[in-house]
Amino acid sequence: MSFIELTADIFWVGVIDWDIRYFHGPAYSTHRGTTYNSYLIRDEKNCLVDTVYTPFAEEFLANLRHLIRPETLDYIVLNHMERDHSGAFPRLMELAPQAQVFCTEKGAEGLRKQYGWTGPLTVVKTGTELKLGRRTLTFIEAPMLHWPDSMFTYVKEDGLLLPNDAFGQHLASSNRFDDEVDSTILMEEAAKYYANILAPFSGQVLRKLEEVGKMALPIKMIAPSHGVIWRKGIGEIVEAYRRWARGETKPAVVLAYDTMWGATEKMARAIAEGIMSAGVKVSVFKLSASDRNDIIRELLEARGLVLGSPTINNRYLPTLAPLLDDLKGLRFKNKLGWSFGAYGWGGGSVREINKELKEAGFELMEEGLGLKWMPDGDELHQCLELGKRIGQAVK
Ligand code: FEO
Repeated sequence: MSFIELTADIFWVGVIDWDIRYFHGPAYSTHRGTTYNSYLIRDEKNCLVDTVYTPFAEEFLANLRHLIRPETLDYIVLNHMERDHSGAFPRLMELAPQAQVFCTEKGAEGLRKQYGWTGPLTVVKTGTELKLGRRTLTFIEAPMLHWPDSMFTYVKEDGLLLPNDAFGQHLASSNRFDDEVDSTILMEEAAKYYANILAPFSGQVLRKLEEVGKMALPIKMIAPSHGVIWRKGIGEIVEAYRRWARGETKPAVVLAYDTMWGATEKMARAIAEGIMSAGVKVSVFKLSASDRNDIIRELLEARGLVLGSPTINNRYLPTLAPLLDDLKGLRFKNKLGWSFGAYGWGGGSVREINKELKEAGFELMEEGLGLKWMPDGDELHQCLELGKRIGQAVK
């Protein structure tokens, strides 16, 4: 599939990356691949919004050539300079040197530093308009959604918002629209994207939603730069972003742990049992067998996080470290935290987990439950009771 017409004379000309399993280097798992979306607007002036990741440049150009000769492109809008969207720009400019380039001031800096681009470009700001003929583009700067250079492009006559990474999902699909894919999978991927990429910028997300709301732009379609295009679920995804950005949570708990000889695992199971007995949803992840980004997605809407590890070298197992590190960067709001773990002589894992959770902005509810050696019946009862207290606290 080389292109899809979104609305009269506006086309998706992106590429599907079926195989990518990690994004941002090793930082983010993409079990379902992704797409790099580029949009062509044919008018008196022909305009392309965003390109694709560098390795797909030739496939992208072949898609484009079905609709237009690159040498007849008038304008190129770059909403964001990260390479998954600007990567094909240098190759495109070899074929379309006549095209005028539009981006934000920070975008211009990125273009020059990343690609050594010295050609002319026009820096745009919020409210800058670009007439194509029958259509007019309006630019809206969106710094930190999710880079300083990010911006949205709005096509007034079609009510089409092109917000680049915002509202995206890493979801490779032969379908291009939200109502053509499984809605549970779609929202799961949209949540994973928000939790792992946009969460630290929730303040900016809220302000941008408010700003765009005040502009009272009729929006009939939101076409992000990854995944499918929102045309049916616009209200749902905008409302979800508002909820996530506010840090609204549900009475649910994520319990993540690792174990050495099974003692901490026994504790984890008993605590989970206690949470369930309080009538609260708990999602349990053994860290050495789980995907960190999926845990973070699950945590997005959960009120509580319970972390467990035995003690090794006076601290927690190394499998907890990447998750704790991410949590400090993602800065979730309104989360409650607990810790637990077994130890042989000195303990220390609970103390160290608490320290990290506090630094990540969690409200610690108890000192943490450390148990010596293998938990016996009474001690497992303590775990069960802890789970019940956790369940009550997140309700
Ligand atoms: Fe999809 Fe920030 O790049």
